[in-house]
Amino acid sequence: MHYPWWYVPVLTAPMLIAFIAVIHVFVSHYAVGGGILLALENQFAVKTGDKKYRDYLYKHARFFVLLTVAYGAITGVGIWWTIALASPAATEKLIRMFVFGWAIEWVFFIIEIVAAFAMYYFWSKLPEKTHIIITWIYALAAWISLVLISGITAFMLDSRGLIANWSDTGNFWHAFFNLQFLPQTVARTGGALLLAALYVLIHAAWVYRNDISNELFLKVVRRMGKPLLFGIITIIIGVGWGCAVLHEQVFVAVERSVFLNVLFALFFGISGLITLLVFFGPVRNPRSVNFGFAVSIFILSLTALSVVEFAREAIRKPWIVNNVVLGNQIFAGEIEDRQKNGFLQPFRELPDLMPVPAGDTAESRFAKGGMLFMYHCNNCHALDHGMSAVGPLLYGESKEQIADKLRHLNIPVVSMPVWSGTDAELEALAEFLVSIRPAAEREKTDGRKN
Ligand code: HEC
Repeated sequence: MHYPWWYVPVLTAPMLIAFIAVIHVFVSHYAVGGGILLALENQFAVKTGDKKYRDYLYKHARFFVLLTVAYGAITGVGIWWTIALASPAATEKLIRMFVFGWAIEWVFFIIEIVAAFAMYYFWSKLPEKTHIIITWIYALAAWISLVLISGITAFMLDSRGLIANWSDTGNFWHAFFNLQFLPQTVARTGGALLLAALYVLIHAAWVYRNDISNELFLKVVRRMGKPLLFGIITIIIGVGWGCAVLHEQVFVAVERSVFLNVLFALFFGISGLITLLVFFGPVRNPRSVNFGFAVSIFILSLTALSVVEFAREAIRKPWIVNNVVLGNQIFAGEIEDRQKNGFLQPFRELPDLMPVPAGDTAESRFAKGGMLFMYHCNNCHALDHGMSAVGPLLYGESKEQIADKLRHLNIPVVSMPVWSGTDAELEALAEFLVSIRPAAEREKTDGRKN
């Protein structure tokens, strides 16, 4: 199936996905970790007969249900909208492959919503034992959603099976149990606990802002020490494990790119800092914790999570789904055919969708060049200005130099797909690109055009 392209000026469509995904992740992880913490703490409060602590947990449950159900659901749907527009072919492939996974995910999502409302509305109306069971049903259902989503996002990074000879992308279980599945599940579970414990700290610090030495507030801080420490250490282990088993293709791309090196260094550096702050703050010195301190660790944690989610998206290139669909919306098996018959050929068969300019005039070549850019390059590069814009990347280059680059598109930049069109298309794209790239200083003084 072929789809029209979607160009997001300056930002590029994948960056828009990354932006919405990151703001979703901040709350979706809380929806899981918060469920686990509420279940554990509610059980603890009932067991120790601490009514005041249980009352605080009830207040937190209200904040939790409001935030996760409303915001989580809206941004989650936002991801579906953007991925379907930006990468329709890859989204279609993922839906076909994981339709069973998504069906299971929906079942658990419904259980989650019902359990969340039951937990809040029946907090003191149900016998305590029954209420504890409901909080655990919520926690388990939410964690299973995390496991399901991890299997799918991990598959996009590495489609090889966890068990030898298990890399059949047509088989749901083979695809689901891929090499990055366990590391991602571990890292995301850690992220869920860390973020949830931080939301609890921030919420409690706000509720008791006028009475920071309140015994109950100190109790909340003390209780959150362990999940905070456990969460951040689990994230570091999960991400480290994921890095250790990265696909060789991806490893080469990471080692070659200063930018990716910096991203990973940033992630491990910030995570180390969070570990120290958590240890010397809530764990060893609960009295030092106040609203500002909680918000600072929270911001650092969001930064670490954004960096690692962003790195995960970046290292996947040139694939959207590893060894299945490329960033330019074509499947691994289609490359040769496109090289022989033309990258734009399939669109000629669908003239109503995206008419390909006919004829071989300078004008039609230019229009074809623009179209080729939109299909072949726009998923990773802005046009003349913005995110990794192709204009500035081709600063001062001649049409011949550009054509030569297109011929060897994936070498030396391993994150780019191989050129997948005919020679005539390559010329048309080079003509188009030379017109949008900035001229070098010397060209201006020479009066030379290209
Ligand atoms: C799947 C993603 C992806 C696609 C599709 C893609 N690129 Fe790239 N490209 C990259 C990445 C990643 C880099 C390296 C990082 C950077 O410099 O922004 C890069 C670098 C470049 C560079 C600078 C390096 C060099 O060799 O000069 C140019 C020029 C370039 N791309 C042009 C293109 C053109 C033209 C197309 C379309 C035919 C294209 N790219 C398609 C990801 C992609």
